[in-house]
Amino acid sequence: MALRSALMTVMVAAAEKAAKALKRDFGEVENLQVSRKGPSDFVTAADTKTEKTLVAELSKARPNFGFVLEEGGVIAGSDGEHRWIIDPIDGTTNFLHGIPHFAMSIALQRADRIIAGVVYNPITEDWFIAENGTGAFHNNRRMRVSARKSLDDVIVATGIPFKGRPGHEEFLEQSARVMGATAGLRRFGTASLDLAFVAAGRFDAFWEMGLKPWDIAAGILLVQEAGGFVTDLHGPASPLDTGNILATNAEIQAPLRRVILGTP
Ligand code: IPD
Repeated sequence: MALRSALMTVMVAAAEKAAKALKRDFGEVENLQVSRKGPSDFVTAADTKTEKTLVAELSKARPNFGFVLEEGGVIAGSDGEHRWIIDPIDGTTNFLHGIPHFAMSIALQRADRIIAGVVYNPITEDWFIAENGTGAFHNNRRMRVSARKSLDDVIVATGIPFKGRPGHEEFLEQSARVMGATAGLRRFGTASLDLAFVAAGRFDAFWEMGLKPWDIAAGILLVQEAGGFVTDLHGPASPLDTGNILATNAEIQAPLRRVILGTP
């Protein structure tokens, strides 16, 4: 892995520690697929356990920082400026079904800025890391977003709002337009990895509505540090606040937004 700051060393060590139990739990989930009740309680326990380990490890290293947690909510720190934003298992549905495409997502926010991010798939051992101003890395390799310019050539990732939830109908219209204008649509089920794949130039873009800060905080920095653009889908607000995100390479942001939103 590229030369790491002390801060990144702390983040990676916390993820490595939490990954040990999580890998074991994933093996167990694969066995539980055949049970009638299914593994859902077990997965909830794995999620909570992973988050507790991450909180304990990060608190040991930086005792004053606060937390924004998918499971545990907001924990104020005595340092009012810094907080960790954490999703212990992003891609819970994949995990639940024994699909090895999920990740821990850990971001550090200082005031309004995300200054460091780690997205780690413990099964494939893919590390995606970034720090503000120093680039984004996939394992040892610097990441760059793709250079594709024509919508005809791009692969676009997305997430689907669950049936019955706000935005489902709107999503169907958006995705029909995107399918008609691009080389293809992908729904892999883990927003943090979708963003990491945009940063790595695998996907040319990603959009989704209704996401939470812990799904996207680390991934936003990955894309930005890899030379891409991340905005709110509709306007100037921060996607961390709205949950509606568009992440693209530098070339296709405006035309893809028009296609998604159906604007001229
Ligand atoms: C989910 C994943 C998924 C996205 C959902 C998120 P979770 O996060 O990131 O890709 O489509 O909107 O809720 O619940 O697995 O942590």
